[in-house]
Amino acid sequence: MRNFGYDEEGWSGTQKEHRIWQRILGYSASHSPGLLLAVVLSLLVTGATLALPRLMQMGIDDYITATTLGVGERVHGLGVIALIYGILVVVVFLTGFLQIVILERIGQSIMHTIRQDLFSHLLKLDLAFFNKQPVGRLVTRLTNDIQNMHEMFTSVLVTVFNDFLKLAGILVLLFLMNFRLALLLSLFVPAAIAITVVFSRLARQKFRAIRQQLVRLNSFLQESIFGLRVIQLFGRQADNYGRYVSLSQEFVQRTLAQIRLFGTFMPLTELMSSMAIAMIVWYGGGEIIRQELTLGEFVAFLSYMRLFFQPLRELSQKYSIVQSALASAERIFDLLDTTMQIRSPEKPAQPKQIKGSITFANVSFGYNKDEVILRDISLDIAPGETVAVVGSTGAGKSTLINLLVRFYDPLQGRVLLDGIDVREFTLQDLRSNIGVVMQDVFILPDTLLANIVLETGIGREKVMEIIRDTGMEAFVNGLPDGLDTVIGEGSLELSAGEKQLLCFARVLCRDPAVLVLDEATSSIDTASENILEHAVAASFKDRTSLVIAHRLSTIRRADRIIVMDGGRIKEQGTHGELMALQGLYYNLVQLDLYQDGNGPAGP
Ligand SMILES: Nc1ncnc2c1ncn2[C@@H]1O[C@H](COP(=O)(O)OP(=O)(O)OP(=O)(O)O)[C@@H](O)[C@H]1O
Ligand SMILES: [Mg+2]
Repeated sequence: MRNFGYDEEGWSGTQKEHRIWQRILGYSASHSPGLLLAVVLSLLVTGATLALPRLMQMGIDDYITATTLGVGERVHGLGVIALIYGILVVVVFLTGFLQIVILERIGQSIMHTIRQDLFSHLLKLDLAFFNKQPVGRLVTRLTNDIQNMHEMFTSVLVTVFNDFLKLAGILVLLFLMNFRLALLLSLFVPAAIAITVVFSRLARQKFRAIRQQLVRLNSFLQESIFGLRVIQLFGRQADNYGRYVSLSQEFVQRTLAQIRLFGTFMPLTELMSSMAIAMIVWYGGGEIIRQELTLGEFVAFLSYMRLFFQPLRELSQKYSIVQSALASAERIFDLLDTTMQIRSPEKPAQPKQIKGSITFANVSFGYNKDEVILRDISLDIAPGETVAVVGSTGAGKSTLINLLVRFYDPLQGRVLLDGIDVREFTLQDLRSNIGVVMQDVFILPDTLLANIVLETGIGREKVMEIIRDTGMEAFVNGLPDGLDTVIGEGSLELSAGEKQLLCFARVLCRDPAVLVLDEATSSIDTASENILEHAVAASFKDRTSLVIAHRLSTIRRADRIIVMDGGRIKEQGTHGELMALQGLYYNLVQLDLYQDGNGPAGP
């Protein structure tokens, strides 16, 4: 799987720049009427802005300094010019406003689409992907990348078009007004462009360094908060604090370096613009004296110069925003392009009624290709049979379940449900027929009922019935508002045992042909334990059950016990048979690893 260069800010170069623009444009395609309108508005804004100095010139030349007209005519004419000037200023304001609103809206809507695409893609990604991407970093980077693209859409694209139009327009107007003076001023243009380009390059490096550090700072913060319990338990506060401070210091240094760069560049363009103005005053002033330039043209020249240098100053800043947005876009598109290995097949098997036989045929698997976790596992479970899997921690028990429900595919061998390879079912069919009670339970901040029902739309009556049948009333009635108790973060926190009970109810409501139970390793409270024991006993009837068991009571209830060690099946049989064998299982029981409160059981 590709690494997204998430440690590196900037160009990884997997996608060509024009491809990225194409895809961004692809997202904009549905907004072409709005974009067209924005371009028209842009012409209007620029036209009106550039007309203002011309008006000023007319006011001065035709009325203020005109000696051929009468005083009344001159005052009246000046009034008309002032009125037109006022109207144009309002036009600039209104069209500018409208343009921003339209482009902002388009930008927001594009980002909304990209965000949706990204999230729905993430939800489908293989779990293996997240093993290789630290989740904290992925989240920071994604939020950052989306923010970067958003910034480009709203603050850059909106104005860059206007800026270029303005620069081109000013140059044309200057040449039309006074060729010699314009030629003289255009000597500044290459210098201004050179400074802008150099600055842009440098600024990009600085921005990148800052962003890189920000990502480090954020992910360190996130990791520390996630791992706060460990930090506190091991007394690592001072150490973590120190590392955070030094990360933050580095961030300050990098930001200051960027500010120094801006501090050099801004006065430099200021200098350029002052020199240009000095040039106009010197050369243009001479031309006025020689009557080759009017006072109005002189004033207009000065105004155009001011308008000319302003976008140049901002262009370099915008350039670096575009650069980092492109890098972000590349990562986002790369992520959208990751293919999933775990997918429903094109022509899925159409099972009528799953009976629930499970077969592992010579299955080998490792989370990484070079580290084998399961070695040549072969196992047949008949419909309705209850099989308990035991073994020391890390033996590969939970991995078996991961393969059964296709969170991963085996490297070798096959996993079959009712004699059909699990890869031939749609993921939906497969997973709806296998009910899994996991070690860690996902809880929505909502009522207990909503947490049990989730997406299934099962009625309250049905839920009550299942809870009664499995003897879980004590659990529900023990909560302040029964089924309507609000649970989850910020409200009532369930204990580990209660969470497992909730998950059990959730699974039983779906009445799956196969029940898979990964018993909580941690000892759970006795009350929950007793209820769970009854529920487990009730639910094993009539369905295939695969239980990773830690409690002797559960193990003894199984038809068959599988003992795993180092990724292999070492022993199998009933409790009695295995005890008689005096092998691994016997030792596990002797070691008190498996207890049910009654002490180690004999054969
Ligand atoms: N997502 C993963 N990525 C890489 N390695 C993993 C992953 N999950 C588990 N492993 C490794 O696979 C091995 C088997 O893990 P597994 O979870 O199947 O053990 P287990 O028998 O269920 O243990 P326990 O009784 O502690 O739950 C362990 O060495 C573990 O470190
Ligand atoms: Mg496990």
